[in-house]
Amino acid sequence: MKIKPIRKIRAKIIVPADKSITHRTLILSSMAKNESIIYNLLNANDTKRTYNILKKLGVKFKGDFSKLIVIPKNIKEIESPLYCGNSGTTARLMSGFLASKNGLFILYGDTSLSKRPMKRIIEPLNLMGAEIKSRNERMPLIIKGGELKSIEYEMPIPSAQLKSSIILAGLKANGETIIKGDKGTRDHTERLLKFMNANIEIKKDLIRIRKSDLEPLNFKIPGDFSSASFFITLAILHRNAKIEINNVNLNHTRIGFLKILEKMNANIYYEIHESEPEPIGKIIAETSNDLKGIVIPEKLIPNAIDELPLLALIGAKAQGKTVLKKAKELRVKESDRITSVIENMKNIGINIKELKDGFEIEGKQKIIGGKIKTYNDHRIAMMFSIAGLISEEGIEIDNTVSVNISFPEFYKVLLNIADESKKT
Ligand code: S3P
Repeated sequence: MKIKPIRKIRAKIIVPADKSITHRTLILSSMAKNESIIYNLLNANDTKRTYNILKKLGVKFKGDFSKLIVIPKNIKEIESPLYCGNSGTTARLMSGFLASKNGLFILYGDTSLSKRPMKRIIEPLNLMGAEIKSRNERMPLIIKGGELKSIEYEMPIPSAQLKSSIILAGLKANGETIIKGDKGTRDHTERLLKFMNANIEIKKDLIRIRKSDLEPLNFKIPGDFSSASFFITLAILHRNAKIEINNVNLNHTRIGFLKILEKMNANIYYEIHESEPEPIGKIIAETSNDLKGIVIPEKLIPNAIDELPLLALIGAKAQGKTVLKKAKELRVKESDRITSVIENMKNIGINIKELKDGFEIEGKQKIIGGKIKTYNDHRIAMMFSIAGLISEEGIEIDNTVSVNISFPEFYKVLLNIADESKKT
């Protein structure tokens, strides 16, 4: 698909439901003591993996992803292996969920997921008493679940998937599980659990969990900030744009990207309405002519992990140098996102320097255009599609199907914006 530059943008959009929250509401409502009602789940490939696995394991669902009733059931061993597709969240959270279930379960994934590190969850879950076997600490995982004991665990890497996997196991373990050293990664699991009245206590970087009876959920999932971030980037980099995005989740552990953009002088405005279990709000982003390059503050990295690639594009347009370091987790996402960004930035005529744990880029460069290789990574496809709209000559994307992982309507929203632009 070729994405060509557009002249003027005035748009109000909504983005699909949050991916992380959808995975968690599906899993946690399956563990509740009664039926839950969930509205507006993300209907995309990744979240469907979690849904399908739970269904195979015996959980009952009524309705569809706009309104879903979840009826918890006792989980029983099943013979067939469980497919996680491209979804790291499904793989790591389901491992924590299955660790306490009697029986043998097999989880496997697609080519990308089969390359991603699983030692991070195998180690603590085995310490708790599960028996997880793997191929070189990668998928497939063979999980022999059963009775678990609590552990005290210091997180070796900042990962919400790791934290959530241990929490899910901790909810079924004997004794009190303690997780230390979380660097402020997304806290949707903790928020939902508090909302469900779980035995969970959070103090600074210490989380304590005990066996819990979970109250059912009745909750509407807000829009995904990570999906919004592509259109925020479009608005600030385009020479004549204003985009308003409504009903987005603005949990403080997710909006590091907004904080970084404020430091870069972007024209953005946002309003946060506190509500339980998740804050919601609106964002208005506009053409930003005074962007300045910065060194990305290390402490904001976990809160902007999925948005970090976009900073390469923004850095290319800002005044001065933008430097991202200490972000080596990007190398083990759906693709090696440092390599995917560097190669594709070069493909569209931009100079950028690769670092082992990030990149360095001088500003005031032209985005000429060219051909992109997405490596089947949804966020790379969406990032460079946005780049096409602000390029000089347009950008050709090799494969667009990956957007179905998190944002199936992405090109519909983008084409609407482009069509409106032609009318003005
Ligand atoms: C996610 C956590 C992040 C993020 C991913 C979704 C989650 O991964 O990159 O897209 O839902 O917990 P890590 O926790 O591995 O950093």
